Amino acid sequence: MHVRVQFLTRSINLSAFRGRNFSNVRNLCDLQPIKIVNEYKPIDLRSDTVTTPSAAMRAAMAQAEVGDDVYGEDPTVNLLQRRMQKLFDKEAALFFPSGTQSNLVAVGAHCERGDEVILGNQSHIFWYEGGGSSSIHGVAFHTVPNLVDGDFSLQAVKDAIREDNCHYPSTSLVCVESTHNKTGGRVLKPAFLQNLREIIDEHNNRVKQSNSGGGKKDIKIHMDGARIFNACLYLGMPVDIYTQHVDTISVCLSKGLGAPVGSVLLGPKAFINKAIRLRKALGGGMRQAGILAAAGLYALDHHTGDVLRNDHRRTQTLLTGLRQIKDLRLPSAEHVETNILFFDVVGKCGTSAGKLLADALRVKHNILVGSYGDTRIRVVCHLNISDADIQRTIAAIKSTCEELFQ
Ligand SMILES: Cc1ncc(COP(=O)(O)O)c(C=O)c1O
Repeated sequence: MHVRVQFLTRSINLSAFRGRNFSNVRNLCDLQPIKIVNEYKPIDLRSDTVTTPSAAMRAAMAQAEVGDDVYGEDPTVNLLQRRMQKLFDKEAALFFPSGTQSNLVAVGAHCERGDEVILGNQSHIFWYEGGGSSSIHGVAFHTVPNLVDGDFSLQAVKDAIREDNCHYPSTSLVCVESTHNKTGGRVLKPAFLQNLREIIDEHNNRVKQSNSGGGKKDIKIHMDGARIFNACLYLGMPVDIYTQHVDTISVCLSKGLGAPVGSVLLGPKAFINKAIRLRKALGGGMRQAGILAAAGLYALDHHTGDVLRNDHRRTQTLLTGLRQIKDLRLPSAEHVETNILFFDVVGKCGTSAGKLLADALRVKHNILVGSYGDTRIRVVCHLNISDADIQRTIAAIKSTCEELFQ
């Protein structure tokens, strides 16, 4: 069957691309200017950050009582912070415009300039946050290899902690991430967090007892919990129990929870006081931010239960549907724990099969997926994705693979 995609200057026949080497072609759009012409409604599976607020969420935002939050006087922000603080059973909470800024401030509040942070080599803070911890706080990253389920070897952490010696930087912080984005939405297991806590406590106690440790700060544990509600749903565990072993957590409201903006940083009072100052210095002090906090409160009320449960279920349905396509290398079902699915396109077309599939899905079917490197694809389910969208995506990937790789 010949499939036609309408380009600005002429139509193009996808079957003509079969078997060709695309290693020098970034995407189909590089070939010629395009105008996407198709009748389908868009399906955006690139990330759970692409959701748009519902009418009900917008109504909650419009009705929010507001004040100047830099003066601490926005009642809706204060309500959100109090609610999150109670939910996570930490001493204090602080609202941020983004997860990146919340993580950045956490690192800055835990560390002095020249300190070192131990974190996974596939972590979001290491890969995707613009190196802000280094350029803004003067902190160095000491990476340890992430394992397939998003955690890392505890021995690797022990080995990475610096001795108290003037040749070395001081280790101040260990960062963990759950769910872990780059390993496919994997959930850090409670036993891993407990074991990590024990190692860090042992270290901190040893330093306190040794003469050389005078004045040295404890190492702390920070969790990038951008998708912590997905993690806790998977585990069937309350968020306060799950996060009891970490000192501080950053939680995003703008991922699966579907708020347009917002993250909350949680931890001890003294830490949050420091964070307020750093947030202001970074330009993150917002005024009548209650409009945004209201979306977060709405999300906590309406989007943590069935919405996330459906996202996880639809991710499994997608995985099952894609199994019939021989050109894909897929993870096993038990390795897909939440709403993120990574897979590789191994169909024969040179080295850029993933990019080619992503571009064809966009141009021909109005379906957007994340494309990473030559072969890797990421799809993320969220509250704007329906069961019908999943079925259309499976059918589109199947027919496109047949056209491109047969
Ligand atoms: C695991 C993780 N942490 C932090 C962030 C940063 O959040 P934001 O986009 O709000 O800066 C993201 C964003 O996707 C993320 O996936």
